[in-house]
Amino acid sequence: MTAPLEIAPAHGKLGVLLVGLGAVSTTTIAGVCAIRKGLAPPIGSLTQMGTIRLGRRSEGRVPRIRDFVPLADLNDIVFGGWDIFEEDCYAAARTAGVLEARQLEQVRAELEAVRPMPAVFDRRYVRRLDGPNVKKGKNKRDLAEQVVADIRGFKEKHGCDRLVMVWCGSTEVYMKPADVHATIASFEKGLDASDEAIPSSMIYAYAAIREGIPFANAAPNLTADIPALLQLAARTRAPLAGNDMKTGQTLMKTIIAPGLKARLLGVRGWYSTNILGNRDGEVLDDPESFKTKEESKKSALDYIFQPQLYPELYKDLCHVVRINYYPPRGDNKEGWDNIDLVGWLGYPMQLKINFLCRDSILAAPIVLDSALFLDLARRAGMSGIQEWLSFYFKAPMHAPEVYPEHDLFIQLMKLKNTLRYMRGEQLITHLGREYYD
Ligand SMILES: NC(=O)c1ccc[n+]([C@@H]2O[C@H](COP(=O)([O-])OP(=O)(O)OC[C@H]3O[C@@H](n4cnc5c(N)ncnc54)[C@H](O)[C@@H]3O)[C@@H](O)[C@H]2O)c1
Repeated sequence: MTAPLEIAPAHGKLGVLLVGLGAVSTTTIAGVCAIRKGLAPPIGSLTQMGTIRLGRRSEGRVPRIRDFVPLADLNDIVFGGWDIFEEDCYAAARTAGVLEARQLEQVRAELEAVRPMPAVFDRRYVRRLDGPNVKKGKNKRDLAEQVVADIRGFKEKHGCDRLVMVWCGSTEVYMKPADVHATIASFEKGLDASDEAIPSSMIYAYAAIREGIPFANAAPNLTADIPALLQLAARTRAPLAGNDMKTGQTLMKTIIAPGLKARLLGVRGWYSTNILGNRDGEVLDDPESFKTKEESKKSALDYIFQPQLYPELYKDLCHVVRINYYPPRGDNKEGWDNIDLVGWLGYPMQLKINFLCRDSILAAPIVLDSALFLDLARRAGMSGIQEWLSFYFKAPMHAPEVYPEHDLFIQLMKLKNTLRYMRGEQLITHLGREYYD
């Protein structure tokens, strides 16, 4: 056992700043408002419903996570954010069409109070969208300073003690790390020169991290996952998490694949297709935005199956991912997976998964949990990449010398052990010899 970390208490208000007030953000905000009023249960949220076992199994110590670590109370959260559309959160939630009108009415006043600040936006990075609520600036540095001013203004106006920022904006076009991303100095020079390799999401991330504010990326964009912003986070002690929330099909993949691998069943092919009709689906209909998503979605299986260690089982795996924009379905995505398995002596089998899910219903608790856990990390003095939050992400941020952990069950163990570590409780290895010796 180690000494517990010193964790500052969660006094005062926590401002949760969401970039992009679309389907995911409005479902998160409306959900938190409804939960606060006791109108709905926080299903899917580990911070609100999860428990954690402490000590030996025989001790029976299993507190709720929110009673074990000092998390911000939902009543102390104030939401704010930016969008390229001027609609307030109530109107945006109606447009998104995720929650029923009846339910939105119950929290209408709270939602109407959240009005988007003008966005940093450039169609070069999200080609299928355009909107009027956009900042003007002489260069990207100027835009970043405007976001910093928004952050400070919000904090003051709402009397917030602490802030967290989550990118819930659209998926930007595919981008690889470039020279301008290498150091803080090169990045700031790039802001001055409005370098093309700095998309809007990086400008928000830069502003948050420079202010020492925890930042999470709910989308697959590079955003904060570049050396310059990691260095900046080390300097300002900002905790980071991302990328791309693990919700529908990839969540199922990282539940099923570890099971197949555990039983050493081979996999020859995994064909995944989706139909999706919300604005996210429309943006992903652009091949450049889809490529960003595809890269993020495809990596999980390679890391879980470890074909380099099990070439006979997974070397030639054919993994295909498709997303088709199909408006009639709105936010209610349908995913199909066909998995071609190989068993004993090489005999083939098939597994089919048909997941009729609701994208933003699966995403909202992740936004809430990552905001609350990042705020906890900040108060516990933990900065930079928070690998223990990999649990929530499709393409988890990780140190350059290690591969990302994708197995949902290992991720959960890592998350809970991190909480035990923070509180100076024994880590749980599941060895369990003590019950039999
Ligand atoms: N299950 C899920 O819903 C899920 C899972 C993983 C990742 N994501 C990602 O989360 C993001 C949000 O998803 P969504 O369903 O809410 O999409 P959405 O289209 O409903 O909302 C995105 C919002 O971001 C706004 N936006 C775009 N660029 C912006 C900018 N530069 N500044 C401010 N606002 C900007 C758009 O106007 C839109 O209102 C997407 O990138 C999506 O790929 C969603």
